[in-house]
Amino acid sequence: MSVDEKFLADLPKVELHLHIEGTLEPEMVFELARRHNVTLPWPDVGALKKAYDFENLQSFLDLYYRGADVLRDEQDFFDLTWAYLERCKAQNVVHTEIFFDPQTHTDRGIPFENVIHGITRALEKAGQELGITSGLILCFLRHLSEEAAFETLKQAEPYRDSILGIGLDSSEQGHPPEKFARVFAEARSQGYKIVAHAGEEGPPEYIWQAIELLDVDRIDHGVRAAEDPRLMAFLERKGMPLTVCPNSNIRLRVFDTMEDHNLKDLLAAGLKVTLNSDDPAYFGGYMLENFAAVQTALALSREEWLAITYNSIDASFATPERKAELLDMVESMAG
Ligand code: ADE
Ligand code: ZN
Repeated sequence: MSVDEKFLADLPKVELHLHIEGTLEPEMVFELARRHNVTLPWPDVGALKKAYDFENLQSFLDLYYRGADVLRDEQDFFDLTWAYLERCKAQNVVHTEIFFDPQTHTDRGIPFENVIHGITRALEKAGQELGITSGLILCFLRHLSEEAAFETLKQAEPYRDSILGIGLDSSEQGHPPEKFARVFAEARSQGYKIVAHAGEEGPPEYIWQAIELLDVDRIDHGVRAAEDPRLMAFLERKGMPLTVCPNSNIRLRVFDTMEDHNLKDLLAAGLKVTLNSDDPAYFGGYMLENFAAVQTALALSREEWLAITYNSIDASFATPERKAELLDMVESMAG
């Protein structure tokens, strides 16, 4: 049977790499700016959208942190998260593990609790009303210091039960995982799952460091592993998941075009590839738009799509019971 739009739409989806601040649609930027009387540097939504023409990760991050300035109250974080979860429902995303960047907000004087209460309230409501299960992963901003990461880990202590894992994001080049080895050791000792962005723009060496020094459960992105055959063999042998984000990689010019993307090679090498949307409001769409763009350019087989979906279930931090339910959903659809 061929892979058509309906097959991709119907596929039960698991998202493992999604920055909640990256779901802030330009319309919501303006709505929240009105709510809080914030003057924006763009005259209208159209002008903001025109600025979404990125040269690299840093040029995106500069805009992303400016956009996040309109997020202030608990209700803003609830509205942001709920809007994303409604999109999940529409696209058959049945389990999602969400990153948040508390330092982006606490450094502006926004209390940590506004951020976490708003997000968790939306996640709980989605569990009850939409049947979507979820997890929350706190990311340290790697352009900031180790000391600031320790401080953020401390701020998270009262919310330990609401946070599944700790991650590492922001400007990769020049901020290797080794900078955060001690704070990740502490997070690991507190029982958190561990993930890190590595090998998005940074070299394969950063992937090695994430594995050897941070003891990660998954690598976020990891596409530059392809430059190191020894690393490829190691990732395959360990079954180390990669959370690959195709539209993001094109928009941030990691690859020139989707036809040039290496996800098919990574899959063919036996790596545990998963597909995800990263910052969908900035990179041209959510899970289904990513799947559709990959299919148009790379024409994956039905078996490859099912393999990606099974990889995502396996690589998720869902409970064994939930993983079994997710597998049943895919199997009943796969026929
Ligand atoms: N923060 C949000 N999106 C990111 C990405 N793709 N890489 C690193 N940090 C990020
Ligand atoms: Zn990311």
